[in-house]
Amino acid sequence: MALSGSRLDVMRHVGENLDTLLGDYLKPIETNWQPSDFLPDSRQEDFPEQVRLFRESARELSYDYMAVLVGDTITEEALPTYESWLMDMEGVNQAEPTGWTSWIRGWTAEENRHGDLLNKFLYLSGRVNMRAMEVSTQYLIADGFDIGTGTDPYKNFVYTSFQELATNVSHRRTATLAKQAGCPQLSKICGVIASDEMRHAKAYKAFVSKIFEVDPSEMMLAFEEMMRKKIVMPAHFLRETGVKLSQTFSHFSDAAQRIGVYTTNDYIDIIDALLIDWHIDAVTDLNDAGQRARDYLMALPARLRRVADRTKIPTLEYPFSWIAA
Ligand SMILES: [Fe+2]
Ligand SMILES: [Fe+2]
Repeated sequence: MALSGSRLDVMRHVGENLDTLLGDYLKPIETNWQPSDFLPDSRQEDFPEQVRLFRESARELSYDYMAVLVGDTITEEALPTYESWLMDMEGVNQAEPTGWTSWIRGWTAEENRHGDLLNKFLYLSGRVNMRAMEVSTQYLIADGFDIGTGTDPYKNFVYTSFQELATNVSHRRTATLAKQAGCPQLSKICGVIASDEMRHAKAYKAFVSKIFEVDPSEMMLAFEEMMRKKIVMPAHFLRETGVKLSQTFSHFSDAAQRIGVYTTNDYIDIIDALLIDWHIDAVTDLNDAGQRARDYLMALPARLRRVADRTKIPTLEYPFSWIAA
């Protein structure tokens, strides 16, 4: 079925059966994991000993690793920015809640655990200048961001599909590296967050698939536009006290490349995965502009790979204000 109407019509249509979808992609709160499940219990007598073991295990984590973990944490902690951004999408209304409103609220409630858990870990680790990190978090929220989607749900869902996959990759890798460094608690922490991200990615990808069914050309054009602009990570807007905007991000991103937590190749692999998931090669009923957008998208990974092969990662270890020593 093709819907010739507006984004609003499509959002209404796709949102009709959202309640059943929500059950697939969000977990019941009562049985869901909570940050305290992965942290020493401060009510217990042996709390100081637990914390001592925690700090000991965090000692072997490399400088770049700590920088990446702090950057990841700040990114998670800027959740108010993401929730308010998504609430502003066409077809979403807080005053008259729809299935979409419930989705954004439920998603936010799950995501809120990520920054909370990572923050507490970092605090207990003894490796981080918490104040410097908190300043960066406050900046990131106060500065806000522009991810180039406007209020368009199609572009926003491309962005969130991409972003959830990217955070899945990076949390999964920090989990593996933590295990190798002898820090099993942190490995569990990153792993459980990574699995949330994957579940959320599946939801956003499903929304896009449903839109492709009813509005293929417009959905294709939105996908193309987001890929031409490139996905701007929320951390792109990171800053530290006294450091110019964008400098902190590039050092953070270099550190992530150096330890292989999130690389240019991962970015390209995600595009490849989305092309396959959304069966981009097989979408029918495209108009001329939609066809051209598809051609661009199908050729994109190979083009990006040619450039990536020539890019060198800087080896400079940058002194982040976040790392204690
Ligand atoms: Fe998250
Ligand atoms: Fe997420």
